[in-house]
Amino acid sequence: MPKKNSATPLSTNKHLLRWVEKMAELCKPDAIHWVDGSQGEYNALCAQMVAGGTFIKLNQKKWPHCYLARSDPNDVARVEDRTYICALSKEAAGPTNNWVDPFEMRKTLKGLFSGCMRGRTMYVLPFSMGPIGSPMSQIGVELTDSPYVVVNMRIMARIGKKVFELIDKNFKRVVPCIHSVGAPLAKGQQDVAWPANKEKYIVHFPESREIWSYGSGYGGNALLGKKCFALRIASAMARDEGWMAEHMLILGVENPQGQKTYVAAAFPSACGKTNFAMLIPPPHFQKQGWKVWTVGDDIAWIKPDAQGRLRAINPEAGFFGVAPGTSNQTNPNAMASLAKNTIFTNVALTPGGGVWWEGMTAEPPATATDWQGKIWTPEIAKATGAKAAHPNSRFTAPAKQCPTIDAEWENPAGVPISAFIFGGRRATTMPLVYQAFNWSCGVYVGATMGSEMTAAAAGTIGKVRRDPMAMLPFCGYNMGDYFRHWISMQRKLTETPRIFHVNWFRKDADGTFIWPGFSENMRVLKWIVDRVRAGGRAKETPIGWVPRYQDIDWTGMDFPQEKFDALQAFDRAAWRAEVLGHEELFLDLHAHLPKEMIYERELLICRM
Ligand code: OXD
Ligand code: MN
Repeated sequence: MPKKNSATPLSTNKHLLRWVEKMAELCKPDAIHWVDGSQGEYNALCAQMVAGGTFIKLNQKKWPHCYLARSDPNDVARVEDRTYICALSKEAAGPTNNWVDPFEMRKTLKGLFSGCMRGRTMYVLPFSMGPIGSPMSQIGVELTDSPYVVVNMRIMARIGKKVFELIDKNFKRVVPCIHSVGAPLAKGQQDVAWPANKEKYIVHFPESREIWSYGSGYGGNALLGKKCFALRIASAMARDEGWMAEHMLILGVENPQGQKTYVAAAFPSACGKTNFAMLIPPPHFQKQGWKVWTVGDDIAWIKPDAQGRLRAINPEAGFFGVAPGTSNQTNPNAMASLAKNTIFTNVALTPGGGVWWEGMTAEPPATATDWQGKIWTPEIAKATGAKAAHPNSRFTAPAKQCPTIDAEWENPAGVPISAFIFGGRRATTMPLVYQAFNWSCGVYVGATMGSEMTAAAAGTIGKVRRDPMAMLPFCGYNMGDYFRHWISMQRKLTETPRIFHVNWFRKDADGTFIWPGFSENMRVLKWIVDRVRAGGRAKETPIGWVPRYQDIDWTGMDFPQEKFDALQAFDRAAWRAEVLGHEELFLDLHAHLPKEMIYERELLICRM
């Protein structure tokens, strides 16, 4: 243990103390800091990062308590090819995950972590995913050498003393998470603004429920409560314990009678989950009394209650949203959420000490400093295509600042889920909306979901990839077993949520989006709620139930039937290719694929 600067531990839990000591011996930090989670501590860490050049304090009049960080240009997104599920067997991790023998991997990690925190402080950061004390919440402790991670985690999770108290009561299992940017400092060596390592490892041990992350300070690679814990490790826990950890937003639709219907929706990264979770209904709907309430924008933990109804919590406490495209027009609720107490990463800095990103305002600033610290002007952008903000630049904002945050968002028992919605970014083939015939058909719809790739992960942008339930990068075990788990969940339920598929991104022959999206998605949401609550009308097609033109409320929107027909068109040739795409996925997963998936595919082919 480093003697110097080793603050008194804030926990008395023997296991925790021993683990911290062991990890300190391995990583050799200069100091240990037990995170109490207070505002004072947060302010001090931010000030320290301003002094060290990691943070730029924004104009406090316009952006109170807001900071900007610029990452290393080689550390800007999740690194899926460096993400590992080190289950005991390769088969348990499945063909969609990177796997290395856990014993091998432990050896590699031991080498990497040996002395990796020299010259730095190791923060002991306790966090609760989910409201503190909720029976659906889970606890972790992240050891990290990044103060940037600590302050972001304070927004994204519940952290600090209250969590240590739970640990000290031996209240719950604790998931150990260790993170290093992998940039030890020699004596007297000057630090850089964004320390990181070219070599990156994001490693999960699903059986022992452990996370080891090395070399990156960015988002899901480093804020280990989010993708690593709340999805990869939690999905493995959920399979063993009969619940679900899903890459889903949760929203509540309030009808004019004041009744709320909660739905959970899975979309791949950067496909508009945050916008959908914060949807503002069009004026006509608002006048009638329709409202949309936000419970969460990224992750849902879902469990059957004693009555056999699925209930969901948002395990997070903040939004780690994609900045580009977010504006007062597209998502005023996100803009209000990020107006204060927010950390921006890789957006542009304006001369007035504010932030800007592509799509934030119709008129770009005359000049700005781009996400790499270089001068940017609209002229330079025109000539070179340079972006002011990185396409995966983010805001980390407290969820409680969202004007539409639901009154129940921290209910320890969660909210009842009446429908699941799956959706991808598809220029062709997929209609605006359809409803699966039943649960197993719905599981098939989710399992075979495809989407064009975005900047949220390294890869070829625009290429369609199969992303089952939007969980391809996040499922902590064999994807075939994950489908089986979905199928089996229904047996625990007295009321089965209905399952829908949406696509806001279909294009016409000229490559123009047919559907305006955003607020207008309320029309689709209303049809979904009508179907769930009031047996709303629909038409049967080979792929599922679809609304007829007259089943959608078009008041206040000029959207002719021909356009709607184009949006909903069932293109037999395109679906033929689609089903072949499903087959490719199934070939990869064949060893663990539940037979329901094969039968559902056969039924789909027969109907087609
Ligand atoms: C995210 C992602 O950051 O899915 O939410 O990449
Ligand atoms: Mn996500």
